[in-house]
Amino acid sequence: MSYSRTRAPAYSRGRVDRPTCARYDRGVAEIIDGKAVAASVREEVRAEAAAFRERVGRPPGLATVLVGDDPASATYVRSKRKTCAEVGIASIAHELSAETGQDELLALVEALNARADADGILVQLPLPPQINASVILDAIDPVKDVDGLHPMNQARLVAGQAGLRPCTPLGVMRLLDTTGVELRGARAVVVGRSNLVGKPAVFLLLERHATVTVCHSRTRDLAAEVGGADVLIAAIGKAQLIRGDWIKPGAVVIDVGTNRNAAGKLVGDVEFERARERAAFITPVPGGVGPMTIAMLLKNTVAAAEARAVGRAVAAGAGR
Ligand code: GUN
Repeated sequence: MSYSRTRAPAYSRGRVDRPTCARYDRGVAEIIDGKAVAASVREEVRAEAAAFRERVGRPPGLATVLVGDDPASATYVRSKRKTCAEVGIASIAHELSAETGQDELLALVEALNARADADGILVQLPLPPQINASVILDAIDPVKDVDGLHPMNQARLVAGQAGLRPCTPLGVMRLLDTTGVELRGARAVVVGRSNLVGKPAVFLLLERHATVTVCHSRTRDLAAEVGGADVLIAAIGKAQLIRGDWIKPGAVVIDVGTNRNAAGKLVGDVEFERARERAAFITPVPGGVGPMTIAMLLKNTVAAAEARAVGRAVAAGAGR
């Protein structure tokens, strides 16, 4: 099958093994519709949450903690709570003032660790400067760590063991799967090495047998590295740093960046229009990876609830 644009949208085709971009007809990349993929993940979660409720006698529960009044964080957390309600996940909401001390927040995390109806705990980042985020993340019970940021879950990912994985890179993998691209043996380049996205994306791609290169702000020849990528994950947070003419013809481009350009417009890490002329598949910004993060958080919450209900670790492949 070639990568022409006459086929059904990528998200509707499911998982199909095809040679990586081998027969791509040059032209304009197919847009990967993150909103549509996220909607289908939410439908899955709705069914899973209903089945859990039926079996266990209560819905899965997600505790969200917002500290301070950063408007972007507040919008994001409210959106998480609203989406929980839509799919049948109970929301336990905590909002603390910007002056909250570390010990007070630690006490709240401990209380949520002990609450039977809280399957997942999410403390929205960034935290105010008087609070050390690592101390807080380390205090979350790893079985409730639906952000996948506890060192235990990060170590499990590196070791290839089952565990909760960070939501954004999980969403990236889900989007890749909708394209049907064969990851086994493909050259995947991850630009960015954050704990939230870049590093976990590297190990999720390795799990799928991609040949992975990780680039960052000190990489000597980013253009050359990007130019070799069958699969490019851009997660460095620099507006349109990755030029469209660097993209390998037929590549799959997943742009995690959300940046404001000089004109105040929301743009990704990749020059979208020019990259689109070379790639086979590309995510837009907004409407690509963004909607996936909350969808995968819900998926992780159900996986954590299932694991807690039977008293074992999160199953391999859960949350995907
Ligand atoms: N702030 C921005 N993204 C995230 C995320 O995925 N999890 C948390 N906890 N905070 C964030």
